[in-house]
Amino acid sequence: MGHSVERILVTGAAGQIGSELVPELRARYGEDNVVAAGHVTPLPPDVRDAGPSATVDVSSYDDVDAALKRYDVGALYHMSSILSALAENNPATAYAVNVAGAYNVLEAARSNGLRRVIVPSSIAAFGPDTPRENTPNDTILRPTTLYGIAKVFGELMGNYYAEKRGLDVRGVRLPGIVSWKTEPTAGTTDYAVAIFYGAIREGRYTCYLRPDTALPMMYMPDAIDSLVQLAEADPGGLEHHADFNVGAMSFTPAQLADAIRGRIPGFVMEYEVDPLRQAIADSWPDSLDDSAARREWGWNPKYDLDAMVDDMLENLGRKLGK
Ligand code: SER
Repeated sequence: MGHSVERILVTGAAGQIGSELVPELRARYGEDNVVAAGHVTPLPPDVRDAGPSATVDVSSYDDVDAALKRYDVGALYHMSSILSALAENNPATAYAVNVAGAYNVLEAARSNGLRRVIVPSSIAAFGPDTPRENTPNDTILRPTTLYGIAKVFGELMGNYYAEKRGLDVRGVRLPGIVSWKTEPTAGTTDYAVAIFYGAIREGRYTCYLRPDTALPMMYMPDAIDSLVQLAEADPGGLEHHADFNVGAMSFTPAQLADAIRGRIPGFVMEYEVDPLRQAIADSWPDSLDDSAARREWGWNPKYDLDAMVDDMLENLGRKLGK
């Protein structure tokens, strides 16, 4: 028996974005229609208990294929990934998950006749040769990190499957994502989340990036909107497929510390630079030109720095019981 609404599978459902994307998709399309797929990290209880869940190792084609068949999946959000800093220290796992995993997801989706696949990319797809300010959508992609190289593979393969293999693949290049529900720890932009834990718990934070390191950032509600809006966009309006810049805000550690200090007087920021993550950050853009996303599917983020900081302090403060 078919179901009136197609079933959606989300890989990486335990991750920073997946753990918030699954509840949003369940609210929109029905709890039973969204399968939360995790692998190594346990699913948060609310994600695990509110609808179907599965264990899927994306580095195994057979695992992905079996899950698509078992749940009669019609659309897939591929959120699993080994993030930038962790990937540099675990190249084999990064290859298996980020490169082979992307291929497995796209090929299994095509062979099972899925209607749509969302494969997010990242600002990590850019590199030191890319124009750094207001980085164009269509520009030089020569990343110098394993994570970024895999993201370029995912973009190009997504475009290839869309243009040559008849699979509707779409993706945004997400910037650093700030959120309070699931703390990220494997990336380069994570200081922008950890700083709030430090500020709320102890009134201080030691940052691993230099104070003047500008990076594109986005608050989680906008990140979720970008994925869902692009997934629902009219295909006729789309000229790009798996490689849309999406901007929201851009700030340095010093600017974020100032914004927090305006709300938590006496907040102390110290710096102890981690050369690995500083080098990664230095290879990424400062800010993005997202006019293609605005034009082709109406991208329009809601949160700027001040609105994000207000909302983070309120929600994370409540979560931490402060
Ligand atoms: N937030 C990611 C990272 O730091 C960028 O895609 O790895």
